[in-house]
Amino acid sequence: MKRDGQKTSVWQDTVRPVPYMESRGSYYDIVIIGGGITGVSTALRLQKSGKKCLLMDAHTIGFGTTAGTSAHLNTVIDTPYSEIINKHGREKAVFVAQSTKEAIAEIVANIHDYQISCDYMPHDGFMYAQTEKEGEALEKIKDAILAVGLDASDVTTVPAPFDILKAITFGGQGSFHPTKYIMGLLQAYINLGGHIREHALVQTVTENERDKLEVKTSEGQLWLTQTVVYATHTPPGIQLMNFRLAPYRSYIQVFELEDENQCPEGLVYDMQEPFHYFRTVCIAGKRYLMVGGQDHKTAHHDNEKYNFLELEAFVAAHYAVKQKKYEWSSQYYESQDSLPFIGLYPGKSHTREFIATGFGGNGMIFGTLSSVILTDFILTGDSPYKEVYAPGRIGPLSAIGELLTENMDVVKHFIKDRLRLEQIEGFVEIGNDEGKILKYQGKKIGIYKDSAGKLFAIDPVCRHAGCIVKWNNAEHSWDCPCHGARYASNGDLLNGPAVDALRKL
Ligand code: FES
Repeated sequence: MKRDGQKTSVWQDTVRPVPYMESRGSYYDIVIIGGGITGVSTALRLQKSGKKCLLMDAHTIGFGTTAGTSAHLNTVIDTPYSEIINKHGREKAVFVAQSTKEAIAEIVANIHDYQISCDYMPHDGFMYAQTEKEGEALEKIKDAILAVGLDASDVTTVPAPFDILKAITFGGQGSFHPTKYIMGLLQAYINLGGHIREHALVQTVTENERDKLEVKTSEGQLWLTQTVVYATHTPPGIQLMNFRLAPYRSYIQVFELEDENQCPEGLVYDMQEPFHYFRTVCIAGKRYLMVGGQDHKTAHHDNEKYNFLELEAFVAAHYAVKQKKYEWSSQYYESQDSLPFIGLYPGKSHTREFIATGFGGNGMIFGTLSSVILTDFILTGDSPYKEVYAPGRIGPLSAIGELLTENMDVVKHFIKDRLRLEQIEGFVEIGNDEGKILKYQGKKIGIYKDSAGKLFAIDPVCRHAGCIVKWNNAEHSWDCPCHGARYASNGDLLNGPAVDALRKL
């Protein structure tokens, strides 16, 4: 299985893609764009309801974040309920908590109904504080968890070798193997007659005069449909949602320990900023420790590789490590007001395009929830969650401040990254396996020299809205600091919202 980075995740390495016949149709009731957990779950639900669906991906099924997630199934999500209550009020926070439970129930029901073997395990969660300040914050988090109707209680130990000052536990969490899960869903979708088209990069969706949507790819292929679902994180092209989402990278490693019994029973979180998380992953019957964290805004770190070193040092200080088995990073999107956007695509003159994005670090939960909400919307025109997750919401006042800060950051990159460029006289000044944006013969270029010394030169102007991309030395990609588009070392497009590759020089 392929992924949008150079590193191999455990989920890519331990799954077999489902074979299928490529679609030959030209009209579908619904076209779902994006073959991650959101797209596959939504396509299956809609196909099951009797709709004729086409599931499309610019690359291959599972190419994006689903193969790079940590695959936590949690009701206690990354954004603390205390923050959600502050921003959105208790009533909406209760809805959010309820919806996360519904998402886990949906996953469990799918596993049962479609007999999917995907290492699902129910767990308790644990969160621990190591300082007085963290302890006070943890107390607030616990109160908020209780206020939204979930359970939480104090404990004196956690299943991890850390000195703790205070800790809480909460039930109803889980973990699974995300790519085995989506392959199980995909097989069920195919069995129900669902169609698939991979390597189809959607560039435009337009309404024609016969009231149909025309879905056009970069290759010029055209499909007609009634309804489009964008399960692509940020939807393609330049549009309002770009300004309401911020892209982040997160880092994950998997270790074989000297004593596999040190791998935690449960999901464990610390309270550092950014926080670390720990879980167990089973490979061929053996237990391994998975650790993640070091999150930062995409292309806002000088040396991405350093995050792996930090994580590894953190683990080595607390565990007896036999060997590191995997490491990779992946991308997620935070919304301006900390809640996802799931529902009608705002700003359209019709009600036949839907989006699902801004899941933060909880893509498995909100991707699954999106399949429930969007199916309800498309089949009945309504959903109990339509207001909480409405993409067109204005949101709280505090979120407007965050929105402005976020977009000032984009403007800053747009200007600053054009001015400060290193001038080189010859490409010999670039080391093997190094990528840089620089000036050469008066021109701004991006150069990557591979480990054999072969050069790849690109125009570093992002094809989305013109910011300057940055070399990601961990995943060997050109990442855009503005809205998170990513390109391979040769300039090929990996992730939107851009819909074109970088210009190759
Ligand atoms: Fe928007 Fe690059 S992703 S300018």
